[in-house]
Amino acid sequence: MVSEPYVDLAASHVLHLEFDRRYPLVVRGEGVWVEDSAGRRYLDAMSGGSMAATLGHGRRDLIAAARKQAERLAYVHNERLTNPAQERLAQELVDVAPAGFTRVRFVTGGSEANEMALQLARSYHVQRGEGNRWHIISPAQAYHGPTMATLGLTDRPGLQRPFGPYLPEHLSIPPSTWRFDPTGEGALDALDRALEKAGPQNVSAFFCEAISAAALPAYTPPRRFWEGLAERRERHGFLICFDEVVTGVGRTGNWFAGCDTPLVPDIIATAKGLGAGYAAIGAVLCHDRVYRSFEEGSRKFTLGHTWDGAPLSCAVGLAVLDVLRSEGLIDRVRNRGAALRVELAEALGSIPMVKEVRGHGFLLGVSFVDPRDGDSFLPPELGVAGRIDAAAFQRGLITLSTQPTRDGYAGDQTLFAPPFITADSELEDMVARFADSVRAVATEAEAQLAGRETVPSIPQDVR
Ligand SMILES: Cc1ncc(COP(=O)(O)O)c(C=O)c1O
Repeated sequence: MVSEPYVDLAASHVLHLEFDRRYPLVVRGEGVWVEDSAGRRYLDAMSGGSMAATLGHGRRDLIAAARKQAERLAYVHNERLTNPAQERLAQELVDVAPAGFTRVRFVTGGSEANEMALQLARSYHVQRGEGNRWHIISPAQAYHGPTMATLGLTDRPGLQRPFGPYLPEHLSIPPSTWRFDPTGEGALDALDRALEKAGPQNVSAFFCEAISAAALPAYTPPRRFWEGLAERRERHGFLICFDEVVTGVGRTGNWFAGCDTPLVPDIIATAKGLGAGYAAIGAVLCHDRVYRSFEEGSRKFTLGHTWDGAPLSCAVGLAVLDVLRSEGLIDRVRNRGAALRVELAEALGSIPMVKEVRGHGFLLGVSFVDPRDGDSFLPPELGVAGRIDAAAFQRGLITLSTQPTRDGYAGDQTLFAPPFITADSELEDMVARFADSVRAVATEAEAQLAGRETVPSIPQDVR
């Protein structure tokens, strides 16, 4: 079945995402390296590709923790039974969450965590007798998962098609990037218009990534936006939910990105780094004021999934938190990440196609523009994002670039999110291979741009 080191798609029974892509067959991993079936090794600058493998591959301590728990008790359903691993993990997460968070519900992944956050916000209002509140407002250029409820949160036709008929109609605002709204005031005006349109008394929550992941790599709104958002929450009574599926559990150099924002959210959804790629686990954390509405109301929340809070996955979560603490990895990510951003910016500095290098901790993003004016999107047909990943792969480096140009808010961009345990020499190696890849693609793209029209971003009022 395998024509090494790629899977033969014609013979594969897996329903892959893209039928015209060559899928490398990865057979093992150790630290920040993965190896394909032909024995070629790649530096994993994307923590397993999805930012989940935050502690690297092949960790014997995490495997041992999973094994120990599985031998004692792998599974019980948490609807009528609970277990020590779930109880302890909830306690440990509350201990490191932003001040005031007191309760945790476990799930098995990011989309489920976000859906549960939506249910939590809506139920909070219902508990308080405000059953009219259901609208969600969120930044348009985001990713919250592929389920119907989470797809409905973004305003990205490119992702939502053809599921439109199933998606609830929520309201969105443009991101406060340098391109649309560098101060954050434009997004606040858009938020006011969205509140007006829904009727502020009908809004359940503002839902956003505190620091974006793949949708707008490592972008976070300016301080003024957060302050204005907090003022509006105070005035209108909606909740603020953070999608920390990627940023939670250390990625940005704190336990949660919400510990560093100028406002404290009401609900946090997290996933990937909690299981570090060794278990499918996510969690929704809620502020005590949210929990109290249930405590003083119906005294029950809502149904869960079969694997929520299972001993096996919670034991892995506990072992992950243990490693983060014992190896001082949150501090390392914060301190080393700041230097890594500078190193990346310096390495890419002479390439006119590179517009911005941004980020926090080990979540860094690079955005690309048409070098002829330093502003327009690159023509999508050049496929720059895909070519950068291919060039990096050829150089033994795994990166994740995207091209959401058709959604109107961002062009070609790359996310750079290495495992927290990456050694200094490996980080240097990653930066060098990445810069080399971008330079090679930029040189070709510049030649291809000659004679082509520029692709301006789509003005918001005609979308
Ligand atoms: C920010 C963000 N939210 C939600 C999700 C969905 O998580 P999952 O794929 O675990 O359902 C992702 C996945 O990449 C993500 O990056």
